[in-house]
Amino acid sequence: MIARRLAVPLAGILAGGSVLLVQPAVAASPPGQVSPPGQAEKRPVAEGYGGAVATVDLDASEAALGVLRRGGNAVDAAVAAAATLGVTEPYSAGLAGGGFLVYYDARHRKVHTIDGRETAPRAMTATSLEGIAFDEAVTSGLSAGVPGSVAQWELALRRFGTLPLGQALKPAIKVASEGFTVDQTFYDQTAANAARFKDFTSTAKLYLPGGAPPPVGSTFRNPELADTYRRLGREGGGWLYGGRLGSEVVATVKSPPVTPGSTRNVRPGLMELSDLRAYRAIERPPTKVTYKGMDVYGMAPPSSGGSTVGEALNILEALPEVGVHEYLEASRLSFADRGKYVGDIPGVPLKELLSDGFAKERACLVGDRALPHPAPAGDPDGAYGPCRAASPAQATPTPAEGPETTHLVVTDRWGNVVAYNITIESTGGNGIVVPGRGFLLNNELTDFTFGPAPGDPNLPAPGKRPRSSMAPTIVLADGRPLLALGSPGGSTIITTVLQILVNRWDLGMSLPDALAAPRATQRNTAQTQAEQGFIDRYGTGLTAKGHSLVLNPEIGAATAVEFLRHGRLQAVAEPTRRGGGSALVVSERR
Ligand code: GLY
Repeated sequence: MIARRLAVPLAGILAGGSVLLVQPAVAASPPGQVSPPGQAEKRPVAEGYGGAVATVDLDASEAALGVLRRGGNAVDAAVAAAATLGVTEPYSAGLAGGGFLVYYDARHRKVHTIDGRETAPRAMTATSLEGIAFDEAVTSGLSAGVPGSVAQWELALRRFGTLPLGQALKPAIKVASEGFTVDQTFYDQTAANAARFKDFTSTAKLYLPGGAPPPVGSTFRNPELADTYRRLGREGGGWLYGGRLGSEVVATVKSPPVTPGSTRNVRPGLMELSDLRAYRAIERPPTKVTYKGMDVYGMAPPSSGGSTVGEALNILEALPEVGVHEYLEASRLSFADRGKYVGDIPGVPLKELLSDGFAKERACLVGDRALPHPAPAGDPDGAYGPCRAASPAQATPTPAEGPETTHLVVTDRWGNVVAYNITIESTGGNGIVVPGRGFLLNNELTDFTFGPAPGDPNLPAPGKRPRSSMAPTIVLADGRPLLALGSPGGSTIITTVLQILVNRWDLGMSLPDALAAPRATQRNTAQTQAEQGFIDRYGTGLTAKGHSLVLNPEIGAATAVEFLRHGRLQAVAEPTRRGGGSALVVSERR
């Protein structure tokens, strides 16, 4: 259970338990054209050469693979996969959502990030969500943030890709037009949303045809979304950011198409066309920490992913040994600091939060027993001493978050790498489809603190981006990629990424085992949520140390890629969570 600190050989760790996937020869048609039919069923692990992809969904992975095989790069393929997930995983991702993209540029050996987070409309203030029940905000126009995905796709393609948007959208257009096979996950997610989907005419028409979720095994087509993507490709993002599509988004947000007779109280939103016109995706410097000699890059604010994963790794690095108890305690402490200091505000003390001095001060609080709840935040002030704890009154609770969002990884033949988290926030977003356009709106603004909460860095404000937990992560060794990973799951994203890194680098698991292993999540909460397998394995020992474990049936749905020796790639998705994911490689042979 406890791994003594070892010098890990960085470039030579061969993982076991993989499934080889035989791929047909590389096609010669131009990138962006639609793929020939591929794998009949999704598999969680693939090893090979020339590029790799892992997503939660076979159609999306095939979309990316098709782009890679036709000469597109990792960014082209990531946009193609993200747009396809907007078709096949429409309750987790879509053009009206947002996301964070971390990119390793092999030529310049440099990591970049693009923030495509949704923003609050300019009319939103610190009190706009105050007093509103969370559940009421979830299904409302008020919670819809100004979408970021389309601007992010355009910026990513312009800066680092090779395809125009219209080409990158082609695989998604094909899947939307021809349809995909409804699986159990899609059915379950639709059924779980049915009570609110039926309350909007546009949503019921699309996702409850005949009044019920489409059955497992049926073919689901979304010709309106195909048309929306086609037109977006032709007209560009301006069609959304100030154009006709934008006007329709605003009209839907302000006057949601509530089904006659519905008793749901649907609060209208504050978004104006000028908010869409003002939206920008933003390149930001990545966060970086060094862990066991590896450089771990992540997403800076407004995401708390990079800072919280990074701080926890630094705390672990400062401890003499690392096991599941230390993993939970490092996570608890870094979540305490996240709650107090991180948000879309000026002056987040990022450098200090990620400093070794601060980590040492936090690490010395970790003992043999679980820290009392709640752990107070520390003082990342640059003056560090032994075991300085802030007063308990400063503790900030971590709100509950659901299993929403999705993550994909792609690498190409040149060695470029993308780790990309995308979301529309809740599973099913705000539940409101823009009439005639085939996509759901996000409810990302529920990621703000509702208040009143004086001093909270995550209160809403005009044009502000809600704090995220998305943690797309790229690990380099000697300046070359070693691992890329990420997960959905609200604030559990952070702990899932951290736990996979601990599993891989401290507990010595192969990457497939590190993803499949049972999870637990400690986010400065009184109880640690854990999957049954984790409780079975570690429950007795952790309870004896003062941890209180409570069942969470499923945590996260990660995807990852590891760079093995001699150019060999290992793409990994979940074997079972969220119905299992899909890993593919361009070729099984060099
Ligand atoms: N909506 C999930 C996140 O941003 O963390």
